[in-house]
Formats: sequence, C-alpha cells, structure tokens
Amino acid sequence: MRILTVVGARPQFVKAAAVSRILRREHREILVHTGQHYDHGLSQVFFDELEMAPPDYNLKVGSGSHGHQTGQMLVRIEDVLLQERPDAVLVYGDTNSTLAAALAAAKLHIPVAHVEAGLRSFNPAMPEEINRRLTDHLSQILFAPTAAATAQLGREGIAAGVHQVGDVMYDILQANLERSRACSRLRAALGLEAGRYVLATIHRAENTDDPERLRAILEAFSAIDLPVLWPMHPRTRARIGQFGLEPLLAAAPQLRVVEPVGYLDMLALEAQARLILTDSGGVQKEAYLLAVPCLTVRGETEWIETVSSGWNRLVAAEPAAIALAVTGCTRPAEHPAHYGDGNAARRIVEVLERHFAVAVPA
Ligand code: UD1
Ligand code: UDP
Repeated sequence: MRILTVVGARPQFVKAAAVSRILRREHREILVHTGQHYDHGLSQVFFDELEMAPPDYNLKVGSGSHGHQTGQMLVRIEDVLLQERPDAVLVYGDTNSTLAAALAAAKLHIPVAHVEAGLRSFNPAMPEEINRRLTDHLSQILFAPTAAATAQLGREGIAAGVHQVGDVMYDILQANLERSRACSRLRAALGLEAGRYVLATIHRAENTDDPERLRAILEAFSAIDLPVLWPMHPRTRARIGQFGLEPLLAAAPQLRVVEPVGYLDMLALEAQARLILTDSGGVQKEAYLLAVPCLTVRGETEWIETVSSGWNRLVAAEPAAIALAVTGCTRPAEHPAHYGDGNAARRIVEVLERHFAVAVPA
C-alpha cells in the first residue's frame, strides 16, 4: 500500500505523527509538506520532537491570500501525484493544505482519505469550514473522530466510507504526556507556578483580523488576575503590529507573550494551567483530554462535546464577558471519553489496508 500524506500547518504535523509512524513501518508513505507553515517553531520543531521522518517533498508554498496559497499548492501537489501515483491521498483537518490536496487528488481520480471528517462550525465565513466541507465531499474514506461527526456526515448524505475511529490527537497526547512532563522546563524557567496561570492562544482570522476585536481580546487578557502565558502565533503578532496595539501588551505586566512553543512544552503548559483561553481547535480538545477547564473565544465550536460536558465555554471577545467567565470557571465532576481510546491511528491504518490491497513495499 502506497499512501501519500499531505500536511502543511502546525496541527497537521501533530495529527499526522501517530499515523505516519505506523504507515512508514508497515507500508510505504510518501510525506508531502506544502510549506504553508515554515517557521522553525511552527514546523520543524514538531518533526524533531515527534520524531517524524523528514518530508519526501517540501513544496515551499509559504504564505499568501487564500486563492494564491491554495492555487500554488494545487499545481505543485498535482505534479507530485502524477509522479508518485499513490493508492490514496491522506489529508488532515481543515487547512488550505487539506483542501488543495483533496482537490488535486480527486481530479486525478486518486482516492482521498480525510482524517477529522464531519466536523462543522456552521459558520460559512470561516475559511476552515469551506475547506472541511469540500474535503469531506471529495473523500472516499472519511475518518470521523466522534459520534457527532459521523451523524453530521449522514445528514449531508455521506454514509459510505465513514469510519468512526476516535481522535488521532489523543493518540499523540497519550504517547507524549509523560515525556513532556519530564523534559519541559519552560513553566519553571518563566517563574510560573503550576495551577496558578492561564495559558492563552489566539490565531483565528475572525479574532486577529478585526482591529477592534483584537484590541478587546488584548484588553480582556490584560485584566485577568493571574499571570497569562501567551505563546503568540505569528499571524497575531503581525496584526498587533499592523494595528498599533503593542502599547496594550507593554502595559500589561502579567501578560507573558512568548514565541510559539514546541509540542512538548505546550502539552506540559496545558496540563498544569489553571485555565486555557483559546480559539484553537486542537487546544480546546487537548484541554478537554487533559481535564483542564477551557474558555473558547469564538461564537461557535466544532468540538461540541467539550462544551456539552461543561469543560469548555464559548465566550465573546469582550473584556467583561471574559472576566466573568474566568472567575466563574469550574471543573465538572464528569469527564466522558468523547474522543476514543487513543488507538485512532491503528484503526485508520487498518481501514486503509482493507480498502487497498496490502502490498508490502520492497
Ligand atoms: C492556518 C490554518 C488554520 C489553522 C492554523 C494552525 C488555513 C486557512 N488556516 O492558519 O486553519 O488553525 O494554520 O496554526 O489554512 N506565518 C508566519 N510563519 C509561518 C506561517 C505563517 O509568519 O510559518 C504568518 C504569515 O504572516 C501568514 C500568517 O501567519 O500570512 C497566516 O498564516 P496561514 O498559514 O495563512 O494561516 P494561519 O493563520 O496560520
Ligand atoms: N501548539 C503548540 N505550540 C503552540 C501552540 C499550539 O505545540 O505554541 C499545538 C497544540 O498543542 C496543538 C496544535 O498545536 O497540538 C494546535 O494547532 P493550532 O492551534 O495552530 O491549530 P488548530 O488546532 O486551531 O487548527
């Protein structure tokens, strides 16, 4: 079985790590990095920490408008597919890299397998919602992480090829949690006490690209009565500069802005935070898996189980709303296993083996 995996952005390196390890050991995997994320701290650090093989191809597409970035990826992925002719193309999540790979493969009649199928925010303005809907409808094999995702695919008329396997982020979290505790020194180096700080991440376009909204988030984070550690995505940093909002950061002594951190530091920081404030899909899910209360600065979430179980709350990008939510944050008594059992990657490979004649590579 020859599987061509396409990744490009930070969360995709994390998601692919668990599956790639098995594929490379037992089959043939061709790993393509689109180059959507290219800074060391958003890309190479994940390959190093998660001991991933280097990509077979780096398409070096880089940043750009949606059309430009997705178009460049489409052209370059098509070339690779024509050369490699894999049995299937494996894609993850909902980024521009996901959609470009699915579209290139579908047009060449190469089956597409989508990990994290069936997630929806029902917010049509969100670029990820466009990417994930189209990718699901271009896929032959759909790996849904949850019962809700499987049901959503059914409502959209997709029943064949759907496999509910659990969430690959749980696999990789389980495999690395102890290691992260043992080797991460960042919290102590920053002088933060376990259980006495808030961990924040913000990068969604809806929060970063509107100056008033970004200002409100900065004001809200500045007013929190605990140290707030904020590994800042370059998109957010760029917008803060562009909108002239740096003085707000400088005036908030308890706000600790750092560069994006590697996966092991991130896991350790998440696990010991009092509370996580985020707009990231992956971070909401990790907060849940680590049983750390989370506030999500968005109007909706794809990860609805985190909210229905009481561990995650949606909060408006307004200082008063965030302050109220931070003080009212509690830890529910129940913590159901919504995201599988940590064996999603193995199930994904088994499904692929059933679909494609298992020819072990020479
Ligand atoms: C992308 C995904 C988003 C995902 C996120 C994970 C899309 C539409 N968005 O958002 O779904 O949640 O990745 O982090 O695919 N930049 C750098 N260095 C880098 C990469 C980006 O400085 O290595 C800066 C550039 O200014 C760039 C901006 O960040 O223009 C946005 O990058 P881009 O990949 O377009 O989108 P993200 O916001 O990272
Ligand atoms: N992450 C990380 N360092 C950071 C921020 C996030 O290692 O500074 C990890 C996080 O633990 C999760 C993944 O990146 O595994 C989530 O990616 P991101 O928030 O960029 O994207 P999303 O999940 O929203 O698509």
